[in-house]
Amino acid sequence: MGLPIFFISAIILNLAHRGDMQGLLGLEPQEDLETRDLVLDQRVTGILGEEVYLRCLYTGQSNILFSSWNRLDSTKKARKMAGYKFSTNFFNRENFDIPASITNLTVKVNVTSFDQEGEYTCVFDSEEDETKDTTYLSVIARPDVDITLKEEVVNGTIYHAVTCSASGAKPEAVIRWEISGALPRDDIFSVNKINPVHPNGTTSSISVLRFPLIMNNESTVTCVVEHPAFTEPKRANVEVDTFVSPDINMETSLVQEGGEDFQEVICTATGGRPHPNITWILPEFKNMPPSERNVSRTDSVISSYWFPSDPYEGENIICVFNYTFLPFINSRTITLPIYYLSSLQLKDLDYGINIENQTSLVLVEGDTDIKIRMEVVGNVPSFKMKCSRQGQPLPEDVDVVGSDLFIRGPVELHLVGQYLCQASYRRHQASLHFTIKVNPKVLLPVTFPPNISVNSVENSGSVHIECLASNAVPAANVSWILPQEIKSTIQSEDTHLNGSFSVRSVLTVPSCMNRRYVVECVVDHPDFMEKERRQIALPVCAPPNITMQSGVEWDNDITYAWLVCSVQSQTPATNITWTVERHGIDTSSSECAMTQSAFQEDHVNVAQSRVRIPIHSHAGCTVTCVVELQGLEKPENKSIVLPSLRPSASRAFLGEERYTEIWHAVCEYSGDGVKPNISWVLPDEDAVTQATTEVKYNGIKVEVNSTHAFQLSQYEGKDLICLIQNKLGRDERRKIRVPKYSISSIEVLNKTTLDRRSHGQNEHRLALQENLSNQKIHLRAHGNAPSYKTICYREDGSAADTTGMALVFTEPVSELDAGLYICHVSYHHHTAKVFIRVDVTSEETQHMIFITICSTSAAAITLILIIILAVLCKSGRSQSSQKKKDRRERESLAALMQDPHCPDKTVIPGTAGSHYAELVHYSIVFDAKSTV
Ligand SMILES: *[C@@H]1O[C@H](CO)[C@@H](O)[C@H](O)[C@H]1NC(C)=O
Ligand SMILES: *[C@@H]1O[C@H](CO)[C@@H](O)[C@H](O)[C@H]1NC(C)=O
Ligand SMILES: *[C@@H]1O[C@H](CO)[C@@H](O)[C@H](O)[C@H]1NC(C)=O
Ligand SMILES: *[C@@H]1O[C@H](CO)[C@@H](O)[C@H](O)[C@H]1NC(C)=O
Ligand SMILES: *[C@@H]1O[C@H](CO)[C@@H](O)[C@H](O)[C@H]1NC(C)=O
Ligand SMILES: *[C@@H]1O[C@H](CO)[C@@H](O)[C@H](O)[C@H]1NC(C)=O
Repeated sequence: MGLPIFFISAIILNLAHRGDMQGLLGLEPQEDLETRDLVLDQRVTGILGEEVYLRCLYTGQSNILFSSWNRLDSTKKARKMAGYKFSTNFFNRENFDIPASITNLTVKVNVTSFDQEGEYTCVFDSEEDETKDTTYLSVIARPDVDITLKEEVVNGTIYHAVTCSASGAKPEAVIRWEISGALPRDDIFSVNKINPVHPNGTTSSISVLRFPLIMNNESTVTCVVEHPAFTEPKRANVEVDTFVSPDINMETSLVQEGGEDFQEVICTATGGRPHPNITWILPEFKNMPPSERNVSRTDSVISSYWFPSDPYEGENIICVFNYTFLPFINSRTITLPIYYLSSLQLKDLDYGINIENQTSLVLVEGDTDIKIRMEVVGNVPSFKMKCSRQGQPLPEDVDVVGSDLFIRGPVELHLVGQYLCQASYRRHQASLHFTIKVNPKVLLPVTFPPNISVNSVENSGSVHIECLASNAVPAANVSWILPQEIKSTIQSEDTHLNGSFSVRSVLTVPSCMNRRYVVECVVDHPDFMEKERRQIALPVCAPPNITMQSGVEWDNDITYAWLVCSVQSQTPATNITWTVERHGIDTSSSECAMTQSAFQEDHVNVAQSRVRIPIHSHAGCTVTCVVELQGLEKPENKSIVLPSLRPSASRAFLGEERYTEIWHAVCEYSGDGVKPNISWVLPDEDAVTQATTEVKYNGIKVEVNSTHAFQLSQYEGKDLICLIQNKLGRDERRKIRVPKYSISSIEVLNKTTLDRRSHGQNEHRLALQENLSNQKIHLRAHGNAPSYKTICYREDGSAADTTGMALVFTEPVSELDAGLYICHVSYHHHTAKVFIRVDVTSEETQHMIFITICSTSAAAITLILIIILAVLCKSGRSQSSQKKKDRRERESLAALMQDPHCPDKTVIPGTAGSHYAELVHYSIVFDAKSTV
C-alpha cells in the first residue's frame, strides 16, 4: 500500500512543484522550493535525561549520495553529527544514534545537556542538488516536586508552614495551592514564593503556605505544580493537624479522708486536640493549704484540688483552660459551699407548751417510751448532737438517738429540770433550751357511747345483717327483735381494742320473705338515755316464673294431652297441683299419670310437674297448674285450654280394580281423640275377611281407612257392612250394596240376516267384500254392566281379531275368512255369545245380493207400512206419550253406558252411602232389534 500512496504523493508533489496546485495544497507559497522534497519537524523539545527523536525524511526523486544531520557551532562551522555516505556507510557521534537510512535520517538523540539546544540541519546530497532544512531542538528540565510540613510559633501562636518546591526546572514551574479543592482564603492563609535561578539555567520554584493551626479545619493541603514536562499538573498532598476545642467541666463534691471533710474540686477537659493546659486560680492559702492531685487519661486532662472544708468556705476557685501557643482560653468558676446551722427546734409539740418563749414539755408520771423529736435548720452535711440537764450529764434513762431525745421511762419526778441540746458541725452550732415538767397521772372513770352501724350482705341464699356497736366503754348490749315466723340464726362477737369495746351481732335470715317483715337491732349502753333501735326491712321474694309446655301423645288408641308445669322461684316450691275447670284431677287414676321433680340451679329453685289428661273426656276444658310456694302468700297458677273435639266423619264406598277384576269396599273414618277399630260384616259369615287397615295420626286427629277386597261374584247384589267401633262404645255402621249385573243379549250392528239353526242358536249372517281390508263387524251388548270384554274365535277354535266391541279384518279379505265366528261378550262372570256366519263375496255377487235384498225388503216394507198405518189410526195419542217416556229412559241409560274413559280404579257412582239406591232403581230397557 505504501507504494501507491508514495506514487500519488509523488505526482501531487510534482504538480505542486510546477506551482499549479499551490492553492489546492495550502502550502506556504513563500517556502523555499528546495525544501519541498523534505519532511521534518520544525521544533522539537527534548527533556533533559531522556531521549528525543529528530525526524527528517527525503521524499524527492534524486539519487541521494550523502545525507547527514549537521549542527552549526559558534564558529559557524557545520559539525556532522550523524549520516550516510552512499547507502551503506553511516556514521554518528556524541549523543546521536544511527539514523534509519540514507533517505530517512530520523534519529534518536540522548538529551544529556542544555548545550544540545540549538539548530540542526538535515541535508540530502545527490549528484545534481542538495536538499536541506533545519530543526530547532529545545532542551527542558523536569522539576523535582517535594512537599514538607513544619510547625512554627509566630507571635505566640502555632502556625503550620507547608513548603512545596519544584526544583531544577527549565522553564520555571508554576505552583498553586488547593484546600479542599479551592484556592486558600487570603484572611487565614498566606503564601510566600521564591524562584532562585541556578547557574546551570534551571529554576527552583518554592512556595510556602502558612496558616494558624487554630483557624484551619481542613486536614489535607494540596500543592499543584504545572510544567511543560508534565502532561497534567502534578499534585502533592500533606496531612495537617486541625484544632478541636475540648469539652470542659468543673465540679465539686464532699469527700472524707482520715475523718476530715474535704471539698474536692475537679476540672476536666475532654476530647480537645491538642489537650489544653489547666491552670488554677486559687484563693489566698490559709494555714491549711489545698493539695493538687492530677490524673491524666489519653482522651482528657483532669486536674483536682482538695480543700479542707472549714477555711475555704465560700471561696471562688477558677480553672483556666489554655494553651501556650494557641489563642484559645476558657475558664470555669466554682464557689465552695458556705454551711450554716441556724437553729435547733422541737419537731412536734406533743407534750409541749410554749409560754413566753420558754418551751416547756409536760410529761405524765408513769408514761414510757417518750420521744422528743428535734429538727436542725441549716445546710450542714452532718452534725453532732449533745444534750445536758442543768449543766450535768443526762439522767440514766434519757438518751440522744440521732436528733431525738428518748426517755425510756416510766416517767418520774427526777426528770424535771432545764435541758440544753446542742447540734454542731465544725464551727457551726445551734442550741435549744427547754424545761421538762412531770404531772401526776389522773385516773378518771370514762364511758364512751358506741358508734352504731348496720350492714347487710347477701350470700348463698341467705342475708347476713350485721349490727355493730363499736368503740364503746363499757361494752354495749346488742339484741334483736324478730317476728316469730322467721327462721334465723344470730352470731355475736366482742372485741377489745385501745381500751374500748366493739360488739358485733350478725343475724342470718333467708334471702327473701313471702311478705314484708321488719327486724330491729336494739343497742343498749349506760350513756344512752333510751335504747337505740335500727330497723331493717327484709327483702320480699319475687313472684315465681311459671311456664307451661304442652303436647299430644297417643297411647292405646286414645289421645292424651301432656302438660309440664315448670316453676322457677327464689324459695322452693312446696306443692304443685292440677285442676280442670276448677275441679281437681284425680291423679291417682291410671289415665292421668302425674310425675313431679324439683332441683336447684344457680340458687334458683326449679320444680316441674307433668300430667297426662285424656282429651276425649276433657276436650275444651281449662287445665290449671296451681303452685304453692314457701314464702308466697297465695298460690300462683297458670292455665291452658285443651283442644275441643271436632265431629267425626265416616263413609264407605266401592271401587273396582280394572285389570285384576278385584273389587274394593272402602270404609274411611276421620275423627279426634279416639282411634276406632273398623271391621266388616259380610253376607257369608264364615268367609275370612281380607281387610287392610291404614291409620294416620295428626295431633289429636286420627284417620282410619279399611279396605276389603273381593270378587264381584262373591257378593253381587248383596250388602257389605262396615262396623266402626271405638273403646268408648260409640259404634257406627255403614252399609254398601254391591250392584247386580246382567247381559241379556248381543246385537250385531252390521247388516245381517238371521238364521235360526237346529241347535237353537241364532246365527247372524253377513257378507264381507273380497280383497277389501279393514272391514269391521260391530257388536252391541244389552245389559247393565259398565263395560264389556269381547273375545271372538272361529269354528275351529283359532282366535279372531277384535277391537273394542268389533270383530276386525285388517288384512284384505279372502275366501279363507269365510266361516262361522263365535264372539263372547263378558263382564266379570257374566257372559253372552253371538254366532256370526261370514261370507265373502266378489263385486258381482254383491250386486246380485243387493238386488235380491232390495226387492224382498221393498215387499216387506210395504207390508209393514200397511200394518203400522192401521195400528196408528187405532192407538192414537196415549201410545205416543208412552214412547216419549221410553226414549228418555233409553237416553239416560245410554249416557250411563257411554262413559268412554274408565279409570283403573273406578269409584262406582251411587254406591257410596245413601246414593246407592238410585242406581238399583234404574229400569234397564233395550230394543229387541229385528234384523232387516
Ligand atoms: C544513550 O543513552 C543510553 C543509556 O543512557 C546508552 O545506552 C546509549 O549508548 C546512548 N546512546 C548514545 C548514542 O550515546
Ligand atoms: C524513518 O525511520 C524511523 C526510525 O527508524 C521510522 O520510525 C520511520 O517510520 C521511517 N520513515 C519512513 C518513511 O520510512
Ligand atoms: C506579630 O505581631 C506584630 C506586632 O503585634 C505584628 O506586627 C505582626 O504582623 C504579627 N505577625 C503575625 C504573623 O501575625
Ligand atoms: C543545576 O544546578 C542546581 C543547583 O546547583 C542543581 O540542583 C541541579 O541539579 C543542576 N541541574 C543540572 C541539570 O545540572
Ligand atoms: C502547658 O504549659 C507548659 C508550661 O507552661 C508548656 O511547656 C506546655 O507546652 C503547655 N502545653 C500546652 C498544650 O500548651
Ligand atoms: C494560661 O492563663 C493563665 C491565666 O491567664 C496564665 O497565668 C498562664 O500563664 C497561661 N498559660 C499558658 C500556657 O499560656
